[in-house]
Amino acid sequence: MNKRAEDDGLGSETRPLLVRLDALGKSYHEAGQEKCVLEAVDCSIGVGQFICLLGKSGSGKSTLLNLISGIDRPSEGSVFIRENGREVELTALNEHRRTLFRRRNIGIIFQFFNLIPTLTVLENVALPVELASNDRKGHRRAGNLLDRVGLGDRFDSFPDRLSGGEQQRVAIARALIHDPVLLLADEPTGNLDEGTGDVILNLLLELSRDAGKTLIMATHDEDIASRADAVYFLERGQLVSHQARGPNADSRADAVQAKSCKVNTAAMQR
Ligand SMILES: Nc1ncnc2c1ncn2[C@@H]1O[C@H](COP(=O)(O)OP(=O)(O)O)[C@@H](O)[C@H]1O
Ligand SMILES: [Mg+2]
Repeated sequence: MNKRAEDDGLGSETRPLLVRLDALGKSYHEAGQEKCVLEAVDCSIGVGQFICLLGKSGSGKSTLLNLISGIDRPSEGSVFIRENGREVELTALNEHRRTLFRRRNIGIIFQFFNLIPTLTVLENVALPVELASNDRKGHRRAGNLLDRVGLGDRFDSFPDRLSGGEQQRVAIARALIHDPVLLLADEPTGNLDEGTGDVILNLLLELSRDAGKTLIMATHDEDIASRADAVYFLERGQLVSHQARGPNADSRADAVQAKSCKVNTAAMQR
């Protein structure tokens, strides 16, 4: 493993680091003006952590997740993600290579499920594997995952026949189908009623913990954040570390650290 990656932000050589954000910034140009959404964000996230990103609507949570997944590109700075024991600078790859990297390593769960309406439940879940390997071997694994999320009897249904909670179960199965090391969830319970949201959250936490996944979740919900290993708050383009309160927080707090999350006074005044 890259020596710098191991040392950087961990404080311990025994805990592998999965994601490293280095001076990450994102600005949009709108109506002739530059709008800074993220500014010089530094952060290190260890393998197997459950990380919550809190922040008001418009604070940049989705923007940050889209940069980590390589869907979007930063205006400045870098995203590094470990693959096969070495750090890959995702932000240095072209779009095609980022897409391939994402298919190998990252599963994404969205607020509005983003299922393909013309595919059945089973086909939706198997799709990422079929895109990656161009064969139908994904169907068996998709069936097993659908059993695990409680939809073993809905393989042939189309998404519009399912409730919101059921659609999100399908999306969770789809995100896990290629066994990614990293799961990104963008307000995954934001479109569900409270009871359904709780069930979905528990399912997502159980599946990601059982499989040792790193989970980075954007949410408005402070109750969810209370279960995380580390919590970050996005405000005025800055990522501020909050005290971790989750079940693994004490033993694992050293594996996750926000570095230089200092408040930039220039950004505050904007
Ligand atoms: N493509 C874009 N062009 C211009 N501004 C954008 C674009 N995408 C997002 N933004 C702006 O970036 C800010 C952060 O958005 P977002 O990351 O979606 O916030 P959150 O997910 O926390 O609600 C918002 O002010 C939003 O309007
Ligand atoms: Mg958002």
